[in-house]
Amino acid sequence: MRKIAIVGFKGGIGKTTTCVNLGDALARRGHRVLLIDTDTQANLAISLGITGFKKSLSDVLVRKATAEECIVPARKNLDLLPSNLGLFKAQQRMVLEMAREEIFEELFVGLNSYDYHLIDCAPSLSLLTINSVVYVDEVFIPVSMELLATSGAQQFMNYLKDIARTLGQTAQIRLLIPTMYDPRRRVSKQVINLLQDLGPRITKPIRVDTQLSEAPGYGKTIYEYAPRSRGAIDYARLTEVVANMPPMSTNTKPKPANGHRKKGEDK
Ligand SMILES: Nc1ncnc2c1ncn2[C@@H]1O[C@H](COP(=O)(O)OP(=O)(O)OP(=O)(O)O)[C@@H](O)[C@H]1O
Ligand SMILES: [Mg+2]
Repeated sequence: MRKIAIVGFKGGIGKTTTCVNLGDALARRGHRVLLIDTDTQANLAISLGITGFKKSLSDVLVRKATAEECIVPARKNLDLLPSNLGLFKAQQRMVLEMAREEIFEELFVGLNSYDYHLIDCAPSLSLLTINSVVYVDEVFIPVSMELLATSGAQQFMNYLKDIARTLGQTAQIRLLIPTMYDPRRRVSKQVINLLQDLGPRITKPIRVDTQLSEAPGYGKTIYEYAPRSRGAIDYARLTEVVANMPPMSTNTKPKPANGHRKKGEDK
């Protein structure tokens, strides 16, 4: 199983859009995919048109439900572990009562029947974001075409290094994904140039496409809303890259220095 977090400190850079459409595209290729929403905005459920679910990640955090009990089927091969506003309170409790960075490993132990876990993160440095990057092996950072977004990506990379120093382990940043790319705007090229210096692999950009921004309003993925759109084509190309990436070797993710966890260490 591949465990991937889609992260970034900056808001509105395409994290949720990438999670939904990459997830749906992988599911359409026959992979079993679980999307996990760790953002109180609950945008994954909204984007997929899912309402009326009774349990969510907040119930898992406060041990009122198991993660398996909260899974909602979203599409063929695509399930969702949703979030809701209650996640904010649950997170506060988590800080006060446990303040632990590796709790997802325990909570998600029954969710290993998938080929992919894709985690949509909030644009903040919360305990949930820390848990996400400690839980996963791979991190993808979308970067929208603004100069500030490149600093956000850089800050996140530094932050991951700090986590690695503190906890002795961290995920690897495997992809920087340029989003909302508009070739007519000079800043798009500037941002791509700046990304070259950061180190991780940069994918071909996801172009700006109003249909990508309209689809969540109808609770549809881009493959349901506009399958021939630029957005659908670009996310299909990204999916091809992701599906064909060589698996992480077990020694790519360093072992914890201080005895923090280690069950399920490799996939
Ligand atoms: N390639 C694109 N072209 C046009 N609009 C896009 C594109 N990608 C995302 N959007 C739109 O931009 C907005 C922000 O995208 P999204 O919600 O995916 O960002 P985010 O990083 O998850 O935001 P947040 O930090 O608030 O969670 C949304 O309205 C989305 O529909
Ligand atoms: Mg989001």
